Amino acid sequence: MDTVRKEKLICEQTIKGDFDELKRAGFQTVTRLEEKADMGMCLLTKHKKENYGNIARAWDLLSPGGTLLCAGSNDIGVKSFEKNVRKEIPVSGNMHKNHCRVFWMKKEEVNPALCPEEWSSFNRPGKYIKDADYFTRPGIFCWEKVDKGSAFLAENLPRKVKGKVADFGSGWGYLSHHILEKYPELNELDLYEDELLALDVSRQNLEQLKLTERAKFHWYDLAGDPPRPDHYNWIISNPPFHRSARTDVSLGIKFIENAARSLKRSGSLLLVANRQLPYEKALGEYFKKTERLAESPEYKILLATVPIKR
Ligand SMILES: C[S@@+](CC[C@H](N)C(=O)[O-])C[C@H]1O[C@@H](n2cnc3c(N)ncnc32)[C@H](O)[C@@H]1O
Repeated sequence: MDTVRKEKLICEQTIKGDFDELKRAGFQTVTRLEEKADMGMCLLTKHKKENYGNIARAWDLLSPGGTLLCAGSNDIGVKSFEKNVRKEIPVSGNMHKNHCRVFWMKKEEVNPALCPEEWSSFNRPGKYIKDADYFTRPGIFCWEKVDKGSAFLAENLPRKVKGKVADFGSGWGYLSHHILEKYPELNELDLYEDELLALDVSRQNLEQLKLTERAKFHWYDLAGDPPRPDHYNWIISNPPFHRSARTDVSLGIKFIENAARSLKRSGSLLLVANRQLPYEKALGEYFKKTERLAESPEYKILLATVPIKR
């Protein structure tokens, strides 16, 4: 295969921090590829349906005669995934090294193989959650079920929340839905989420619930600077504690720091976390007072008040 020159490469990326980093590194970066290409590459994730969806779209965008290359690590089951792909599209070759595998498929000029329609459907929002009328899509956080931590927080929202409110890490909008529903007098809820695919679906969910009038949607990386310093009365969050497959509380701690910086002096941060996650120390660093509002065998709800301004 020929070497691809940097200026010929167009990267698709929907996670804000990674999108910005690619741009800084000088790559042409888009949130959705639309152009035909002679070669495509798909980086496989741990979500099989997301991968099928991405392959189906990449295959559609591939010019006849072009090659699509897929790469993934062994711990996401790339070998058996390749076997399943082979059942639908002939795989022209593969290589493995350093616990990773690549395989590639050539799109014939005449009568090319077609991906099953089901694969394409995984690249669109759909109703994947049993017994709940929400849109989600494969790959985004908790796309097949409501997160139990968010549900626990939704059940235990305090009686009064008012003023300017933000949901940090709003996902596909479950918590935001419950915030807007519980506080009909609240007229400013800002949803911050770094995965554009999740943010778009949250808009779709709030639209079908007729709740978008009071909501604003921000594609934003909360691992960077605070979005609106000294602005909010309340920040409500179920912070992320994973990066890829690893538990990483530093991201949650960054959320706490950014919440303290984005709140007014009289503002409050309400968060839910797995009981074993050590957020209290960080809350003590950034807020004068922290209390435990509720707990279950799995989760705790923490209320932090009086942000310490630095
Ligand atoms: C535990 S989930 C909470 C989801 C949501 N609030 C709900 O109702 O279930 C955390 C969310 O934070 C998002 N997230 C992760 N890193 C982020 C970052 N750096 N900036 C903004 N959002 C981020 C994830 O994509 C995920 O949707």
